[in-house]
Amino acid sequence: MRIGILSSGGDCPGINATIRGVGKSAIVHYGFEVVGIHNGFSGILNKEYEVMTEDSFSGLLHLGGTVLGTSRDKPVKKMLKHQDEEAIARFKENIREMQIDCLLCIGGNGTQKTAAKVSALGIPVIGIPKTIDNDIWGTEVSFGFYTAVDIATEAIDRLHTTASSHKRAMVIEVMGHRAGWIALHAGMAGGGDVILIPELAYDINAVCDHLNARVAQGKKHSILVVAEGIETPLGMKPAEYITQEIALRTGLETRKTILGYVQRGGSPSSFDRNLATRLGGYAIEMAARGCFGEMVAVRNGTIDSIPLSEVAGKLKLVSPDDPLLIQGRRMGVCFG
Ligand code: F6P
Repeated sequence: MRIGILSSGGDCPGINATIRGVGKSAIVHYGFEVVGIHNGFSGILNKEYEVMTEDSFSGLLHLGGTVLGTSRDKPVKKMLKHQDEEAIARFKENIREMQIDCLLCIGGNGTQKTAAKVSALGIPVIGIPKTIDNDIWGTEVSFGFYTAVDIATEAIDRLHTTASSHKRAMVIEVMGHRAGWIALHAGMAGGGDVILIPELAYDINAVCDHLNARVAQGKKHSILVVAEGIETPLGMKPAEYITQEIALRTGLETRKTILGYVQRGGSPSSFDRNLATRLGGYAIEMAARGCFGEMVAVRNGTIDSIPLSEVAGKLKLVSPDDPLLIQGRRMGVCFG
């Protein structure tokens, strides 16, 4: 069997560990061949690929980013939307030419949606979920998430020192797209006093009341963790808006930090390395069984799969009865 593998969408820690998990188990255990496709789905249309050997997978486990390259371009969506028959034929022909029997697509929500479309074209596809946002429907967790949470938690820990020395309110904005998973998990792990996530509407007055109450209790500094996806007036950056309003309404000395892409960079945590390795290995097991049109997923704590058609177009968001959220509320964390 010849396995094609690509990564698509934003990079995250653990993609290389997945490529390694796929490659080594494909070659060593199953005797399959592996073709690495460069720069996401465009690599199929542009025939940018390499035949990989066991050596190609050495030194990848701890490496951030993706050695295959990635892109947010959506060539498949475009060719299907415009019913570009020439491009569709070229896409299929290139897969035949590369002799790919199964295409593994490592990516987030957009990639899994595209993988479902490619599967509908009759191409054997398996999805592998990756994202720091943890918002892929159908899997309890995706690799990249806990590494990002660790990075954000460390950043919050570091903000505590300046917050306490200067008696300031420190606002930190973390990533997550439309989901609040990173803010909730890093906010709780970092001891945030206020955590704002897109899934829960907030009242800026309630946030300020909470900060004033802390001052009245003798608590001289506060940490606010805000998700990038929260609503703000006039589309202001969340950290800017929250910092501005707190300073105005409470008179507290307030500072902002926007953590940004450092959350996506660098080595994956040990948890993410092993999750990525296992998801990659399971994808190859599925390929060997001929289980196509599905995404590898963590379900009920074990590795399993779910049809791509069930995943496509959905988002997994933080629910109001999330146990960590409930515990935060019980401990007096303000969620807005
Ligand atoms: O999906 C991962 C993510 O880092 C989100 O948290 C963020 O909103 C987005 O990607 C940023 O995307 P880009 O890399 O295209 O700027």
